[in-house]
Order: sequence, then structure tokens, then C-alpha cells
Amino acid sequence: MDKAVLDVLTEYEARAEREFAEMAKLTWEQIGSRIDEFLIFVGPETGRLMHMLAVAAEARVLVEVGASYGYSTVWLADALGDTDGHLVTLDTGASDAAQQNLAHADAVQPGLARRVEFRQEDGGAYLAGLGDATVDLLFLDAERVQYPSWWPHPVRVLRRGAVLAIDNVLSHPDEVAPFLALLAREPSLARSTVAVGKGLHLAWAGGAGRPS
Ligand SMILES: C[S@@+](CC[C@H](N)C(=O)[O-])C[C@H]1O[C@@H](n2cnc3c(N)ncnc32)[C@H](O)[C@@H]1O
Repeated sequence: MDKAVLDVLTEYEARAEREFAEMAKLTWEQIGSRIDEFLIFVGPETGRLMHMLAVAAEARVLVEVGASYGYSTVWLADALGDTDGHLVTLDTGASDAAQQNLAHADAVQPGLARRVEFRQEDGGAYLAGLGDATVDLLFLDAERVQYPSWWPHPVRVLRRGAVLAIDNVLSHPDEVAPFLALLAREPSLARSTVAVGKGLHLAWAGGAGRPS
């Protein structure tokens, strides 16, 4: 990754640290009522791992559900420089801040922004509209309890060899358990939880009979 893009990501991380310190002084009710003000992101270890996965899988069609301020979007957009791919990133909220942040990264590494399409849309509805086996990497970082209602689309859209990554599986195990149980029933998926950041569950669409 370009050093200048890493510097942009480091700015996000510094902002997140300041905001975590501020959040620590608030009650859960206060945090809940101001949640949109805070940068909630995957963090550098998960960002770096998602970048590695995208490059290793030679992912050309990426979908991210949960853009927020675009931190993970910048990591994925950078990986696409190696694969000549395209990222659709979805959020039910407005993506102005994410687009500004990506533009900031694009200013230091031209080309990043044109690899990304922002859509203000529900992730489940978007996945339902995609064709079978059309996605190389799907990253779910949205409203976790909704994922089971999106079934079977998060798996149906995966190409053979594709990666499905779900964040927050260690920070919010109860919320993701129903979705992980659905994945566990799929013989075509090999799965593992990686203890980076808030916990990343990885499912690889390797084909029937693979160990999971
Ligand atoms: C934790 S933030 C994403 C952080 C981002 N991936 C990062 O690391 O920078 C979760 C985002 O998911 C969005 N979201 C929640 N439910 C959604 C849904 N059903 N479809 C699309 N986006 C959703 C929220 O609006 C919020 O911005």
C-alpha cells in the first residue's frame, strides 16, 4: 500500500482514538443517541487483513455492506489497484463523509475513487438483486441481526473461491450467532474466525466437501 494512503488511514485511526476516549465518558444511552457522530470502524488490523484477502483472492467484484465513514472502503479500494477490480459499498445512511474521505485518499493515490461505487441502499435488498456466483469478496459490517433475513443471498452470490467476511463476531457473538449457524449448514464453505479487531469470521466458497 502507498505510504500516503496509509497516512490517510492513520488520520482516521487518530480520530477514532479521540472519539473512543470521548465515548468512554458517556452513558450507553448518550452513546446510542449520538452514535452517528462517532467514527465506528473495523480498525487497522482488520483493514489490513481485508486488504490481503482481496489481493490474495484476486478479487475483482467486491461488495461491502456498511460504508459508514469509508475507512474499510479505503483499504478495499487500495487492494483493487492490484486486481483491477471494482467495489460497490452500501449504506442505508448518506455516504457524503465516506466519499469525502475516499476523495482525500484519491488525492494522494489517484484512481482509488473511480474503483468505488457508493449506494445508499439496504445491503440485503442489494444482494437479493445480484446474480448467482457474481461476487469475489463480500464484506458484511452492518446491522448484524439483519443478516439471517438476507439468506440465502450472502452465500448464493459468492463465486467459487470467493470470500465472505463478517466483522464483530467476537465483540457481538450473540448477534451474529444465528447467521453463523446458517453458514455452518453449508457444506461448500470452509470457515474460520480470526481474532483481529472485533473478530472477523471468514467463509471461503471452496466447493462441496471442503472442511469447515
Ligand atoms: C460499523 S459501521 C461500518 C464501518 C465501516 N465498514 C468501516 O470500517 O469504516 C456500520 C454501518 O452499517 C450501516 N448499515 C446498517 N444496516 C445496514 C443495512 N441493512 N444495509 C446497509 N448498511 C447498513 C450503518 O448505517 C453504518 O454506517
